[in-house]
Amino acid sequence: MCGIVAYIGSRHAHSVILKGLKRLEYRGYDSAGLALMNGNLSVYKKQGKVSDLENYLHEVGQDTLHASLGIGHTRWATHGEPNDVNAHPHYSGNKELAIIHNGIIENYDSLRTELINKGHQFESETDTEVLIHFIEDIKKHENLSLEESVRVALTRVIGAYAICIVSASEPNTLIAARKGSPLVLGLGKEKGEFFLASDATPIVEYTSDVVYLNDNEVCVIKNEKFTIKDIHTELETAPYIQTLDIELEAIEKGGFEHFMLKEIYEQPKSISDCMRGRLNAETSTMMLGGIREYIDNMVDANRIIIIGCGTSWHAGLVAEYIFEDLCRIPVEVEYASEFRYRNPVINPGDVVIAISQSGETADTLAAIELAKAQGAIVLGVCNVVGSSIARASHAGSYTHAGPEIGVASTKAFTAQLTVLTMFALLVGRKKGTLDEAFYQTLLQEMDEIPEKVEKALELNAHIKYISDIYKDATNAIYLGRGHNFPVALEGALKLKEISYIHAEGYPAAEMKHGPIALIDKEMPVVVVATQDSSYEKVVSNIQEVKARKGQVIAVVTEGDSLIANMADHVLEIPATNQLLTPLVSVIPLQLLSYHIAVLRNCNVDQPRNLAKSVTVE
Ligand code: AGP
Ligand code: GLU
Repeated sequence: MCGIVAYIGSRHAHSVILKGLKRLEYRGYDSAGLALMNGNLSVYKKQGKVSDLENYLHEVGQDTLHASLGIGHTRWATHGEPNDVNAHPHYSGNKELAIIHNGIIENYDSLRTELINKGHQFESETDTEVLIHFIEDIKKHENLSLEESVRVALTRVIGAYAICIVSASEPNTLIAARKGSPLVLGLGKEKGEFFLASDATPIVEYTSDVVYLNDNEVCVIKNEKFTIKDIHTELETAPYIQTLDIELEAIEKGGFEHFMLKEIYEQPKSISDCMRGRLNAETSTMMLGGIREYIDNMVDANRIIIIGCGTSWHAGLVAEYIFEDLCRIPVEVEYASEFRYRNPVINPGDVVIAISQSGETADTLAAIELAKAQGAIVLGVCNVVGSSIARASHAGSYTHAGPEIGVASTKAFTAQLTVLTMFALLVGRKKGTLDEAFYQTLLQEMDEIPEKVEKALELNAHIKYISDIYKDATNAIYLGRGHNFPVALEGALKLKEISYIHAEGYPAAEMKHGPIALIDKEMPVVVVATQDSSYEKVVSNIQEVKARKGQVIAVVTEGDSLIANMADHVLEIPATNQLLTPLVSVIPLQLLSYHIAVLRNCNVDQPRNLAKSVTVE
């Protein structure tokens, strides 16, 4: 995610763009910049906030900034640290073109090599700069117009993009295109006035007439007119002009009431984005460039230690089951806050995996430093590119879930599981503990997870109904076995942290060792009871709870009729391999906690006493 704003018309382009970028701040970013056609094609960009860019522009001076055409960008880094050089816009090699981009160009590496062999030199580490050099190269060597060069280039790149491009030699032309990342065209009230943005928030104060570009469409604004074409057929499409009638705040949340719900619903996409360019079930290939040099360290590891806090710790617990199952390597999962103080035994052959959405959790960072000091290799699994934990690790893989605004972690959790599963698949296959047939099966199953999560999201209305029944509960118990035990812990944490209802997660078998004394007709018991190797045992646990009049909400594999006859409420999710079930079984628990919290009028996105990133000890 990032923010794109572009403008052409009679207003001061830089003012429209800066104001628009601020409107997009909720999309998260680490740097910002803009390009203006102010006599020349001038790029101004800075790491940090839009306000830092604004202060920088004040130094440049208003007169210099006078322009009627410009493009602006807030970056959510995917390729290359957040810094001034990697910030957008990026120039082409000859400085004639400038581009801003939201998304990932998957085949940027091979394109970059090809272009370097043709003499191109790059300033940044980004995939975006490769794209604008590629367009420049096509324009030059195939002798095409700018519009045609952009179109041809886009038919040859793989990945997701929303882009805007300007050219010093065409000061009245603005080109935009999208595939997989959003882009909205605003039709200004004055002739020849147009806006482009990642969503309607930067546009709605100027016009309510918008066209949402579709995938594979390129929009050319030239000589006060615009056209929209398909990049493959080159056929012009009749624009579908819509009239905006939603409030600014609603747009920021994508029409959802809270960021948390928006992020729960983003999970089919965030899981897909996490696998993008890495896992290809069709070609049975998987590549995790970020840890390429450390795969053997994991293959040869005597032990893998996984550290994290909160939800990230729960992701580590799921990974323990997957790694031990597929790689036969002993795994220990540690609360970072305990690990860092208990003088742990760490041996040079150990590999530490540090999990953190924010990449700034103080306890996890300190645990990393301890592990490195004692000779362990540390691999980071973070969502924020260039974060402290990412930089402190020897290597790692980003989750690419996009900014997670809600304090309660949802899409980051499933993205963490996705990355950790890919780690285990790579290591198990290389180690020979995962046979080819099962490897292929799991790749295929992984590929199908986004649509299975989509299916699980269809339970929303039913879950909202159940939430109304239990919204006044004072306690709750969550149960699961095997891979679903950490899911029970995660579900309990979600409920605790946003609805303030006391909830505990337990291995289902633990009930008879004490907690069953808590069961009575007031106690809601959420049981993750999907079809897997411990299914029959979990069924017995449900019967134990019902025998004591507990209220059972069961998450089951679709088609399960047995538990339907026992539980008070049944939530059916699509079947998948038990190793991957947590990616789907957690969805109903996220929705349950969300709806109960809303019904209790809690501040869902900023729960009391909590921070999104715990940077203190
Ligand atoms: C999860 O919903 C909580 N917000 C919290 O437990 C969080 O997972 C924990 O603070 C770790 O944060 P991190 O992943 O950014 O390191
Ligand atoms: N992949 C590009 C980069 O890392 C764009 C990221 C974004 O969407 O902001 O610069």
